[in-house]
Parts: sequence; C-alpha cells; structure tokens
Amino acid sequence: MDNKTFTMIKPDAVGNGHIGAILEKICSSGFRIAAMKMTRLTSEKASEFYAIHKGKPFYDELVQFMSSGHIVAAILEKENAVEDFRRLIGATNPEKAEDGTIRKLYAESMGRNAIHGSDSDENAQIEGNFFFSELERF
Ligand code: CMP
Repeated sequence: MDNKTFTMIKPDAVGNGHIGAILEKICSSGFRIAAMKMTRLTSEKASEFYAIHKGKPFYDELVQFMSSGHIVAAILEKENAVEDFRRLIGATNPEKAEDGTIRKLYAESMGRNAIHGSDSDENAQIEGNFFFSELERF
C-alpha cells in the first residue's frame, strides 16, 4: 500500500474556487487519481473521520469546519505516495509551509488549511475505505 494516499480538498479551498488549480498541481506532480468524489460530510461523519483528535482543543472547530461545505475526496497513486504528497501539501500551519506547496498557496490558517493528506500507509487505507466502496477503489 506504499503507492497510495488519501486526500480531501477542504471546504475553504472548495469555497474559494481552488479545486481545479489544486488538482492540476497534484496531477502535474506525478500523482494518478485512482478514485475521486465531491461530497459533504455530516458532523457525525466528520467526528468519526477525526476521532483520533477527539478531546484536543481544536476538535469541535475541526468537525464544524469539515462539515460546513463541500469537500473533494480522492485516492491518489504514486510511488512513495504518502511521503511525497505530504511534501507537496506542506506543513499543517500554512505560515510554516514551504513556498510552492498547496497549503502555502491556498490555505487560510492552521484550521482552514485547504487540504488533507494521510500521515501513514495504514491511515491512507483506512481513510480511503471510509469514503470509497471496494468497487470504486479498484
Ligand atoms: P489535518 O492534518 O489535515 O487534520 C487535522 C486538522 O486539525 C489539521 O489538518 C488542522 O487543520 C486542524 N488543526 C487545527 N488546530 C490544530 C493544531 N493546533 N494542531 C494540529 N492540527 C490542528
């Protein structure tokens, strides 16, 4: 599974009209879109997706934000996908993200940071399964 990662373009970037530019950057960086959908998370689904952060000070705000508008969820393929994609999106806090990264270009703040990227091969699989059926994934 080290050739796949999972991403979501978050409600801030979707609302600000950055879907096309972000997908272009992802594809021109060598990732293949294996599955993709534009959808919305209920607050229950967002709570479930971010259950690992439950109890942290930013959790309620995170769940509220992620259920506030449309998102684009996708499974991406590339050799060394998880690590290469995290480099492409940049640091969680856009003020610390390197020039040219997706968060540096499009994120508004630490909370509204434009895009998600899985942090491990295991989570890439769990997160992809959360959004896509077996038929959609293959
Ligand atoms: P992401 O790594 O995609 O998923 C968890 C999100 O929580 C993270 O992006 C941030 O948008 C958000 N968040 C808000 N505040 C913090 C914080 N202090 N530390 C880490 N993540 C935060």
